[in-house]
Amino acid sequence: MKSAKLYDKSFDCFIESKKINLAVKRLAKEIKTDLQEEIPLFIGILNGSFIFTADIMRSYEGNCEISFLKLASYEKTSSTGIVNQLIGLNEDLTNRTVVILEDIIDTGTTLQTVYDLLKKEPVKQLKVATLFFKPEVFRKELHIDYVGFSIPDHFIVGYGLDYDGLGRNLPDIYKLSN
Ligand code: IMP
Ligand code: MG
Repeated sequence: MKSAKLYDKSFDCFIESKKINLAVKRLAKEIKTDLQEEIPLFIGILNGSFIFTADIMRSYEGNCEISFLKLASYEKTSSTGIVNQLIGLNEDLTNRTVVILEDIIDTGTTLQTVYDLLKKEPVKQLKVATLFFKPEVFRKELHIDYVGFSIPDHFIVGYGLDYDGLGRNLPDIYKLSN
């Protein structure tokens, strides 16, 4: 089995890139089927979502736009529960169909913050897509419209996700070894 070492921690291959790419294509199709001729504004949540956002956009068969928000709530391998907005949005969201793109939803704290922020804007509709979702630890009531993979409460890296800055460049997803 493929493995990776980041600082002091060992990781084992968990989801191969082929499966990830198929899931991203499926999500892009699901979004297009729902939105029809709407022109969505995809908002990627940095840093983790940068690869997911790029791949969703490349798979989206219709006109679409992109922007990013940068937030952080993670230190090492556990959520701090505190979300800081680091880079804000400049776009006019009036009457826009906005799709939030998250790499992973864990407790949901980050998503709730982003959602509350965007709900204050005069958007037409607000959707949420995430590549990974950890239902066991999710603590919010928010509806998640599009989910790539529901996974157990593992700490994962790769495909944009990091352990203290490292591992984002791994094409496959790895989980922390037991
Ligand atoms: P939440 O606010 O607890 O839902 O955490 C969400 C954010 O924490 C994600 O956008 C990621 O940046 C980070 N995160 C959560 N789980 C993991 C993981 O398993 N690996 C790497 N980053 C994670
Ligand atoms: Mg993130």
